[in-house]
Amino acid sequence: MNKKKIVVGVTGASGSILAYRFLSYLKNQEVHLIMSENSAKVFSFETGMDKSEIEELSTSVYDDSDVGARVSSGSFIFDSLVIIPCSISTLSKIASGISDSLITRVASVALKEKRKFVIVPRETPLSSITLENMLKLSVNGVSVLPFMPAFYNKPKSVDDMINFVIARVLDNIGIPNDLTSRWEGL
Ligand SMILES: Cc1cc2nc3c(=O)[nH]c(=O)nc-3n(C[C@H](O)[C@H](O)[C@H](O)COP(=O)(O)O)c2cc1C
Repeated sequence: MNKKKIVVGVTGASGSILAYRFLSYLKNQEVHLIMSENSAKVFSFETGMDKSEIEELSTSVYDDSDVGARVSSGSFIFDSLVIIPCSISTLSKIASGISDSLITRVASVALKEKRKFVIVPRETPLSSITLENMLKLSVNGVSVLPFMPAFYNKPKSVDDMINFVIARVLDNIGIPNDLTSRWEGL
């Protein structure tokens, strides 16, 4: 099986466990991880784990301030970029064309090169500004895939709800998975 090259950005929105769980399903892929400074704080606060535990699940790790890292160039070919979870701050910067960190720089590359790009924002309620920014990203080809679990699969735990959303992300970037049962009709 050919490995997919996936760049994963993790930002300081709540739900950093999503990033950990997502990476745990990418063990057979080539994963390039970038964590924002704020995401590292939220990750240890929410999960009690050390940043090194999520880094261990990746092939390569980059500092978010290293805007000259090899992943920052359009010449670095990757299959998909997933920002999970994505803060509203990072989402808004990307929608405005700001690339002042490695995550936002790779995002601008994904947009200009028209690469597969998935964003998993977490915030509620959503302001009109955020909704406009999401629309802007969507019309530019980004899959805006919020953490929005369903109930038709009768989840029994938070894990089930997380798996539902991770399965949608994996589906979106073309990684076969059987994390949840598929809808067969009523
Ligand atoms: C515990 C905690 C939870 C947060 N949850 C969210 C959130 O769910 N959504 C969000 O947009 N920002 C959230 N924030 C705020 C972001 O961390 C903040 O906007 C930060 O500047 C984002 O920076 P980054 O996008 O570079 O990681 C949270 C902050 C903390 C400390």
